[in-house]
Amino acid sequence: MVRVGIVGCGPIATSHHSPGFLAIPGVEIVAVCDVDQAKAKTLGEKLSAQVFTDVDSMLGSVDLDIVDVATSEGPRPPLLLKCLQASKHVFTEKPLAGAKGQYHIQLSDIPQLYPIVDEWQKQGTKFGINFNLRQSDNVRTLKNTIDSGRLGEPDVLIASTHMGSTNHVIDLLRWINGEVDEVSAVWRGDATHPTRAAQMTYANGSLGTFVNSMETDLFFEVNYLGSKGRAIVQDICGDLELRVRDGVAGWDFEWTQGWKPKPTTSQTYSGLFAQSIAQFVRAVRGETDQYASGLDGLRHMEIDAAMTESAQTGVPVRVQRYELN
Ligand SMILES: NC(=O)c1ccc[n+]([C@@H]2O[C@H](COP(=O)([O-])OP(=O)(O)OC[C@H]3O[C@@H](n4cnc5c(N)ncnc54)[C@H](O)[C@@H]3O)[C@@H](O)[C@H]2O)c1
Repeated sequence: MVRVGIVGCGPIATSHHSPGFLAIPGVEIVAVCDVDQAKAKTLGEKLSAQVFTDVDSMLGSVDLDIVDVATSEGPRPPLLLKCLQASKHVFTEKPLAGAKGQYHIQLSDIPQLYPIVDEWQKQGTKFGINFNLRQSDNVRTLKNTIDSGRLGEPDVLIASTHMGSTNHVIDLLRWINGEVDEVSAVWRGDATHPTRAAQMTYANGSLGTFVNSMETDLFFEVNYLGSKGRAIVQDICGDLELRVRDGVAGWDFEWTQGWKPKPTTSQTYSGLFAQSIAQFVRAVRGETDQYASGLDGLRHMEIDAAMTESAQTGVPVRVQRYELN
């Protein structure tokens, strides 16, 4: 039996993480913790789990395999470090940190993450982050198509997203196209959730743009232009269009493939949480090494913070990547 403890009993833990863990055979949630006793008690009673208001007490008195740190980003870093130091497998939400919230990631949020990834490396446990957009079928199909070489060499990636998916789409761009070396950004509006537009230079030489805005409903779109074809991926559990030259020169190539998701129970907003958690548990069980990790979480922070820095200073910013020890 895999024994899970949850830290932070807010809406995400209650509505998405706990059902996600409980849907996996052989997994039980044995403890919950929240500094707000009423919230801890409510979730603990619902799950028949032990209730704590302090993470040290939980770690010291319950035998746990996985700790799910499902608080908001502000209090998250010290909790991650404690759980890793206690030799636990740790699953958490994105972003890894954010003193000013998830829509205003700053360079100053990052150094506190170095001892966390160092501890993870030292312990050798699994450290997963819920980049659940990676579980969306349209996104997975795009990734597989790019990796197969069918779209050729990347040239330009044009991305836009509603603010709520900013962290996810930055991770998605890096997942499908590799590291980002430099960004140049501008922003407008309220600094807690600014509209932001950035140019990006990727390590593989391709270029890109990235826009996030609070306007309009939850959406995202990535337009991938490669030397052999083009792909447009849209929205969580949404569409993917592939236009592949397949060796045809000039302008005569045809639209070759439209793709719509099949309505399955796993391809829903909630379903992606469950799939992401299930993949992490498979990693803990040694059944896969494919999962979004703490390093992916750190890389997202480095890119996001570089955009903020560039927008604030008005100059291009190199993305500083911390090397794992
Ligand atoms: N992956 C996704 O698609 C997705 C979607 C929505 C939200 N999120 C992320 O989920 C996270 C949590 O969201 P939420 O809406 O549930 O947050 P929330 O702030 O409403 O709830 C977090 C809970 O953590 C508790 N808490 C804070 N500090 C604590 C500590 N030191 N020890 C124990 N408990 C503590 C709070 O009392 C609160 O009950 C956010 O970081 C958000 O970015 C992810």
